[in-house]
Amino acid sequence: MIRILMVCLGNICRSPLAEGILKSKLPENSFIVDSAGTANYHMGSSPDVRSISIAKKNGLNISNLKGRQFTVSDFDTFDLIYTMDASNFQNVIKLARNADDIAKVNYILNEVYPNQNYDVPDPYYGGNEGFENIYTMLDEACNKIAEKLIK
Ligand code: 4NP
Repeated sequence: MIRILMVCLGNICRSPLAEGILKSKLPENSFIVDSAGTANYHMGSSPDVRSISIAKKNGLNISNLKGRQFTVSDFDTFDLIYTMDASNFQNVIKLARNADDIAKVNYILNEVYPNQNYDVPDPYYGGNEGFENIYTMLDEACNKIAEKLIK
């Protein structure tokens, strides 16, 4: 079993979408995909309606996911931890206990643009086009991740 965690700030916009997209590309008998936020603002909340809607438009149902905060124990539970932006990356790295923890963490877009540390922009305060944009970015990144992991 390979376990993958998607991390953003609130766990209601970017990371639940990334979770839903990657899940749809991997066989569920050998992969676990989850998501979390570095902040505790939206614990127990459903994804943002705009993320639910763009997912639905692409044939994915993420409406049953619930927000939770990233914890140190996630370093033990997960093999790969993908952060959406530099701020999430730094917040996760701050909690790392050792080099093994650090080695699990990467920017999700580095799967498409290696070593560039590009951000998946926070769409929370923008309009629907921001959600279209992040969907495209995350879909491309998840294609790369699935390709790599299924090999
Ligand atoms: P996310 O977006 O990190 O992609 O889930 C955000 C959601 C909520 C907030 C910020 C970003 N907020 O400030 O409440």
